[in-house]
Amino acid sequence: MTMNLLEGRKLVVAVTGGVAAYKAAELVRLLGKAGAQVHVVLTRAGARFVTPVTFQALSGNPVWEDLWDARVPNNMAHIDLSRDADAIVIAPATADVIARLVHGLADDLLTTLCLARTCPLLVAPAMNRQMWEHPATRRNIGLLASDGALVLGPDAGDQACGETGMGRMLEPETLCEAVVRFLSPKPLAGRRIVMTAGPTFEAIDPVRGITNISSGKMGYALALACARAGAEVDLVSGPTGLAVPEGVRCTMVRSALQMRDAVNAVITGADVFIGVAAVADYRPDQAEEHKIKKTGDGLTLSLVPNPDILAEVAARPDAPFCVGFAAESRDLDQYATGKLRAKRLQMVVGNLVQDGLGTDDNRIVLYDADGRHPLPHASKALLADKIVEHLAGLLAAARPARSGA
Ligand code: C5P
Repeated sequence: MTMNLLEGRKLVVAVTGGVAAYKAAELVRLLGKAGAQVHVVLTRAGARFVTPVTFQALSGNPVWEDLWDARVPNNMAHIDLSRDADAIVIAPATADVIARLVHGLADDLLTTLCLARTCPLLVAPAMNRQMWEHPATRRNIGLLASDGALVLGPDAGDQACGETGMGRMLEPETLCEAVVRFLSPKPLAGRRIVMTAGPTFEAIDPVRGITNISSGKMGYALALACARAGAEVDLVSGPTGLAVPEGVRCTMVRSALQMRDAVNAVITGADVFIGVAAVADYRPDQAEEHKIKKTGDGLTLSLVPNPDILAEVAARPDAPFCVGFAAESRDLDQYATGKLRAKRLQMVVGNLVQDGLGTDDNRIVLYDADGRHPLPHASKALLADKIVEHLAGLLAAARPARSGA
């Protein structure tokens, strides 16, 4: 999680009485780490699971439990807390609290706070699977959503009661990402983006192959940044050890030919194509069915060129806005601008391999029809946001978003 994504944001995290309350402690920590100022509201049942001391230590703020809190001179904790907040996040939200919210009850601090709020409400339900599936809960969740609350999860999995099924609260990392996404500006709303990332692997035989050094970190960070900015993202990824970013549809492939097929399967109607993958330029003309045995003699491999996926997409009659990456070991300006022209791209992200290969940060320069735009040395996550910002600006000028976006 990038450090400053929630800088300046004020959040109320409300913890109600479920076993998942222990995960709320981690959520509060993560939101604080992302820069948010967090105030925790703990219901009486919530306090039976985790004490206020834990939340006070993690949030660095006093914990709110009582509608009649003597610390608030005007007795208006419910008004003051909600007026100040950018969002209220209830995690975990029990079936009971959801039912009470839906009916507009206001008999404790949390429900009063929610009724008096002017800010958005995000709700992460957590309950036993039977309670989740009960018609009353189904009805209440529908009403809560139609009242404008954003319902996050729940997930399926093991439950505290020993059963397995729907009702587990989403993991703290997922919830934190959902809050970041909810509060992020959406300059790519209504846009569909197809991307490639990672290396490709071209088999020589069942155990050997040709590949490029690429961690996939930049591509995955960019996919996440595009999704946060409101885009619908299809990521086609070569082999990496990375987790698929939240909110991104991902197809895993191995070779360049598979990558091309996977791109072609989703490219029609896309607004943007971003080629981040380090595609192998050549592949063995045919992979051996069985492992090649050592003979002690030299070995000559016969290679054939792979298709240039980016150039093919850019040459389509319905070509989307195309962005390429140029990783060079020298003469970056010359090679990057050469690619911009030769492949008919609208933007190229260039970097010197010695600055960013496999690492968490990088130094990059953006190239477009207006020239070169160097960005300061930064983490790949932060650079991804900067690339999105630049891309969104170019895109808005070149192809205004469809109405309704
Ligand atoms: O020509 P070069 O390989 O340096 O271009 C790099 C850009 O082209 C990257 O955006 C990369 O993802 C894309 N590319 C591709 N298919 C290839 C080779 C490169 O899409 N076969």
